[in-house]
Amino acid sequence: MTTFAGKTVFVSGGTSGINLGIARHFAGEGAKVFVISRDPNKVGAAVEELRALGAEADGMSADVRHYDQVEAALADCAAKFGQIDILVSGAAGNFLARAEKISSNGFRAVMEIDVLGTHHVMHAAFPHLKKPGAVVFNISAPQGSVAMVGQSHVCAAKAGIDMLTRSLALEWGPLGIRVNSVSPGPIADTEGQKRLVPDPKAVEERVNSIPLKRMGTLDDVSELVSFLASDKASYITGAVIPVDGGTTLNPTPTRMAQFLDG
Ligand code: HXC
Ligand code: NAP
Repeated sequence: MTTFAGKTVFVSGGTSGINLGIARHFAGEGAKVFVISRDPNKVGAAVEELRALGAEADGMSADVRHYDQVEAALADCAAKFGQIDILVSGAAGNFLARAEKISSNGFRAVMEIDVLGTHHVMHAAFPHLKKPGAVVFNISAPQGSVAMVGQSHVCAAKAGIDMLTRSLALEWGPLGIRVNSVSPGPIADTEGQKRLVPDPKAVEERVNSIPLKRMGTLDDVSELVSFLASDKASYITGAVIPVDGGTTLNPTPTRMAQFLDG
C-alpha cells in the first residue's frame, strides 16, 4: 500500500518543472492525478508520463486566468476521480524586468496568472474538496517575503498568494481543510531559473549566494509537499514554508541587475 493510494490530486500548472515533479511524486505514491495548463501538447505529454508511472491520470488544457476553464477542469477531475484530497495551485508567470519597463499589461499578466489564478483554482475546487481532510498548496517563492531586483511584479504576486494562503487557512480551518504555501528557492533545470539566471556563468555566483551552496532539486520540493500532505503534518496550516537552502536569508543575486542593465 503506497502513501497516497486512492487519493485524488489536482495540480494547476502541473505539466512541467516543479509542479510536474509534485504530480509525478503523488503518482508514484499511488494517487490519481489531474493536471492542467494552457498548452494541450504539454498536458498530453504530462498525462502520458504520469500514466507510465502506473497512475490513473488525466488533464485538460485550461488557462487559470479564465474562471470557466478552471471550473470545467475541476468538475471533470471530480467526475473522473472523485472528491479532491490534495489541491496544488502552481501555475505562474515570470520574466526579469525593472518596474519602469513593465507595462500595465505585463504586470497584469503575472498578477492574473499568479494571484487571480490561485483564487480561481481554490474557489472552483471548493465544492469538490474533501471536507474534512483536504490539503491545499499554493506555490510561492522567496520573492513573496524578500524584495528582488527585476521582480517587483513577482514579489507582489507571491506576497498576494501567501496572504491568500493565510486567509483561506483561517476560513477553511474549521471545515478541516489545511492550506499552506510552499516556497521553493532556486530549483535546478527549471524554466523559472532559466528566466532569472539566463547566463550559465552566473549560475555559479547564484549557487554561492545560497547558504547551503547548491540549487534545489524537484525532489526537494515534492518531498516537502508530500510530508505536508500527510497526516504527520495534520497540525500545520496557514504557513509559508521555504524549501530554499536558506535563499530567503541571502536573496541578493547581484548578477540579475547586470542582465537588466546590459
Ligand atoms: C517586460 C514583458 C516581458 C519582459 C513579457 N512581457 N515578457 N515585459 N519584460 N521580459 C510583457 C509583454 O510585453 C506583454 O505586455 C505582457 O507581458 C504579456 O505578454 P504576453 O506574451 O502577451 O502574455 P502571455 O502569453 O499571457 O504570457 C504570460 C507571460 C509568459 C508571463 C508573459 O512569460 C508566460 O506565459 N509565462 C509562463 C511560464 C513561466 O513564466 N514560467 C516560469 C515560472 S517561474 P504588452 O504591454 O507588450 O502587451 C517563477 C519563478 C519565481 O515564477 C521565483 C524563482 C526563484
Ligand atoms: P514552469 O515549468 O514554467 O511551470 C509553470 C507551469 O504553469 C507550466 O506548466 C505552464 O504550462 C503553466 N502555466 C503558466 N501560465 C499558465 C496559465 N495562465 N494557466 C494555466 N497554466 C499556466 O516553471 P517552474 O520554474 O517549474 O515554476 C513552477 C512553480 O514554482 C511556479 O509557481 C513558480 O513561481 C514556482 N517557483 C519556481 C522556482 C524555480 O526555481 N523554478 C522557484 C520558486 C518558485 P503552460 O505553458 O502549458 O501553460
